[in-house]
Amino acid sequence: MDSAKPANVVQLDAHGGLRHLLTLDGLPRGQIARLLDRAEELREQSHGGTRTLDLLAGRTVINLFFEPSTRTRTSFDLAAQRLGAHVINFDIASSSTSKGESLLDTVHTLEAMHCDAFVVRHKESGTPAYIARHLHSNAAVLNAGDGNHAHPTQGLLDALTLRRHVQDFSTLRVAICGDIRHSRVARSDVHALRALGVRDLRVCAPAQLLPDVDEFAHCRLFEDFDAALDGANVAIMLRLQKERMQAAIPSEAEYFERFGLSTQRLQRAAPECLVMHPGPMNRGVEIAGEVADGPRSLILEQVGNGVFVRMAVLAELLAGAASR
Ligand code: CP
Repeated sequence: MDSAKPANVVQLDAHGGLRHLLTLDGLPRGQIARLLDRAEELREQSHGGTRTLDLLAGRTVINLFFEPSTRTRTSFDLAAQRLGAHVINFDIASSSTSKGESLLDTVHTLEAMHCDAFVVRHKESGTPAYIARHLHSNAAVLNAGDGNHAHPTQGLLDALTLRRHVQDFSTLRVAICGDIRHSRVARSDVHALRALGVRDLRVCAPAQLLPDVDEFAHCRLFEDFDAALDGANVAIMLRLQKERMQAAIPSEAEYFERFGLSTQRLQRAAPECLVMHPGPMNRGVEIAGEVADGPRSLILEQVGNGVFVRMAVLAELLAGAASR
């Protein structure tokens, strides 16, 4: 991938408005809060998603998922449909990608048929920004997760979910635990939570899955999960991303023993501690089933909020723009 301009520059127009959504890195608190407010407005206007709006009538959104997804892909699809847009779920496996067509030739081919937005997931960090830099049209690019770089709508939906339960982010103690090194969710969550005022951010992983210190400069890094969880109000658990790993990792049983969130271990956190997980979960590896399904779990709320956040982002990028 070329690296001419970073994602946080490519995504802005000349006036600092959002042209694409590629990362939460550098997005100011006001811009993030406005997207969350818009998600709540769209929740209300769509009667909780049961009424279709016509904000994006006549617009076409193409889902380009080069990696598997359940939540992100389905909720982007529903979000676009509930705003009245036409959605194409591009099937990579049966596309001409398998005949060797390049990424950009694929994108330019789809642009030639006219579309207003590409929702892109790819295993290579930087792919959505690369596409955004090489578009032939005014289509918007929405990052649905690229490598270990960013998953901005997950960061937004996690922030929205927390905001529905917590008044004051500045007093929160948030522990993010799991495969931090490979996690685009951890990176986007940290950007969102810092922007919204969280000061006590702790990230915890086995040594070989901790990130470079510079990248998480505003967080405290832990290898001891009990210490990271001590007094936490929020525990965000992450999956071991074996598909991205080279280093040896502990067995699943050993991992759960040291880094799994069990009912017993949750007692180290604050009594009201909220439990989150972006999914997909590996029960019995990073989280016990009874915690995932327990009274402090927000996991399915996160999923539901994903649709409204994605409606808000699509509306922000597409509804305001005249003819793209
Ligand atoms: N949280 C998340 O990105 O889940 P999917 O991989 O199912 O989209």
